[in-house]
Amino acid sequence: MEYSNCWLQYHSLSNANQREIVVLCKEKSAILLNAVNELDLAFHSLYGRKITVVTEEDRYQTAKTGIYLKSDSSVSMQDNSKDGYTITCAAGKCTITATGEAGLLYGVFALLRNLQVQKVADFDVWSFQEEKTPSNPLRMLNHWDNMDGSIERGYSGKSFFFGKDELLVNERTVMYARLVASVGINAVVINNVNVKGAATALISDRYYNELHSMAEILAAYGVQLFISINFAAPIELGGLATADPCDSSVRSWWKKRAEELWSKVPSLGGFLVKADSEGRPGPFTYGRTHADGANMLADALRPFAGLVIWRCFVYNCQQDWRDTKTDRARAGYDNFMPLDGTFADNVILQIKNGPMDFQVREPIAPLFGGLKNTNIILEVQIAQEYTGQQRHVCYLIPWFKEILLFHTCCGKTNDQVVDIVSGRTYNNHNCGIAAVSNTGDDFNWTGHDLAGANLYGYGRLAFDTELSAETIATEWISETFGTKEKIQEHVLKILMMSWRTYEKYTSPLGIGWMVKPNGHYGPDVDGYEYDRWGTYHRADHKGIGVDRTGSGTGYYDQYNEPLASMYADITSCPEELLLFFHHVDYDYILTSGKTVLQHIYDTHFEGADEAEMFLELWQQLQGMMEEDIYQRTLERFLHQKDHAKEWRDVINSYFYRKTGIIDQYHRPLY
Ligand code: GCU
Repeated sequence: MEYSNCWLQYHSLSNANQREIVVLCKEKSAILLNAVNELDLAFHSLYGRKITVVTEEDRYQTAKTGIYLKSDSSVSMQDNSKDGYTITCAAGKCTITATGEAGLLYGVFALLRNLQVQKVADFDVWSFQEEKTPSNPLRMLNHWDNMDGSIERGYSGKSFFFGKDELLVNERTVMYARLVASVGINAVVINNVNVKGAATALISDRYYNELHSMAEILAAYGVQLFISINFAAPIELGGLATADPCDSSVRSWWKKRAEELWSKVPSLGGFLVKADSEGRPGPFTYGRTHADGANMLADALRPFAGLVIWRCFVYNCQQDWRDTKTDRARAGYDNFMPLDGTFADNVILQIKNGPMDFQVREPIAPLFGGLKNTNIILEVQIAQEYTGQQRHVCYLIPWFKEILLFHTCCGKTNDQVVDIVSGRTYNNHNCGIAAVSNTGDDFNWTGHDLAGANLYGYGRLAFDTELSAETIATEWISETFGTKEKIQEHVLKILMMSWRTYEKYTSPLGIGWMVKPNGHYGPDVDGYEYDRWGTYHRADHKGIGVDRTGSGTGYYDQYNEPLASMYADITSCPEELLLFFHHVDYDYILTSGKTVLQHIYDTHFEGADEAEMFLELWQQLQGMMEEDIYQRTLERFLHQKDHAKEWRDVINSYFYRKTGIIDQYHRPLY
């Protein structure tokens, strides 16, 4: 096999009871067929049991053991709960009820997950009850795959969606669909947001057939296909002289294109758009606003219930480092806040979790809690661009939980990010979460085997934001590695520590950006300091940090009160974000009683020691799992240990040389 089944291994739980299981499923559809297939596969592996599918109730009633996939259309399809399910199991009979077919599929995956997590040896005597409605309407993955097979910020091999400018539709597509559906993902964008070359033509007859096949495979697992588009397509594809969203020829070009596209690929979900950002074309070229651009596309897609997902990652990437007033962190809010309330109903603004760019820690983007009359979706990144590139372990779910639980102080009772993106705060349904995916065609899909926990965990969290990071990790470990206690204990410990450990040996106190330019891997404290990207730490011999208070860029003021005052006041600003908001002297005393510089030294030593401990914890698991998984991961831990030391030494030595201040504990500085 060329790819792993990841958490769908279905490790054997028991072979003691081999009685046949009768599955009652009255309707036939692609999704239900897949649900039944999954039961077949899983019960065979978990228990060595066969299933028999029946359509008549009698046959089910008289069977000793059975599973009933029961459609109940009494709940409105408009409601989020169409993807919800209930499971009731007792005395060998198990009923999964849902309004929609996807809900039944999710119910099946939930049943199988719970059997494994609870280590159920005999299904026939298991009692279980669960009722779930997904927290978010949209639960998306954004792939940054290019049509030549490369992946922007890809750390797990090449694309399994594209190669040589063609779509790849094969068995791996089906496995992908199973994996993502099993955790509740319901929408995927398969191509990079930077749409160039052949990708511009994805919305042309050259690709309709393949797109159709891809869309059908995904739809059979309840997953809708989306495409990133090039805003300049009317010029590049249509031969028009302009892509001005207010030009009538441009508007009718998009309308015709959408009609054609949806007639060939009817299950398409819509478009994702990166416009006026990092060199991509957009409405600014024509003196138009982002609302002009997005609404023009929204008009074209409306007849097909298509969505336009418009990214807010728009900033000046031609900055001069001497300019201390322009602040990249301000850009999203400055660009989009004035447009609140002007976007069409089928437009959703996609906002990165922080105002910069997926650093290991950033404050929450102030557009959350700022925008009040606009559909929004949160964008996180499970591709570990800035968090170790899937060579370091960095389980991101604890970070995502913090992001979701942040109180935006927007003046509503439900004011957390999780409330806003789920649609609770403003009572809307075009919203949710998207993650930049961490997958590629490596055998294990994610480069680092433990990075599978981020793919799994993101989906689980998007479906059920109440879950804790620890619960999710525990599930993933049981399903991926089986139920051996020592594996559970060590892997859980590594995962739960890993994000903070990574933060310790890389970025102190929220400053970020001390990475090598372009590749973003490895330490280079001044790598971006004098560059044009607006990503500065402002370290000199006396102090470090960016003044974003009133005396600086004024960014703090984009937050609602009391957040703005909290960030602006150095005594109330959370210390983990101190250097994001304030420029301080190295001898500034933290609440721990340490100076900022001693804190930097200490955390870097601590972080590197923890990376070494991860290696030791892993080494104690040899022989307890498949050797190739053990070895592959061991190699990554060995690298992480050395690379963490490199981070520690480069950063600590940089500050030592700049300041001449020695480490209080006289550890080696260079
Ligand atoms: C980051 C990343 C780019 C990506 C961009 C985006 O800047 O480094 O590769 O294109 O984000 O989100 O659009």
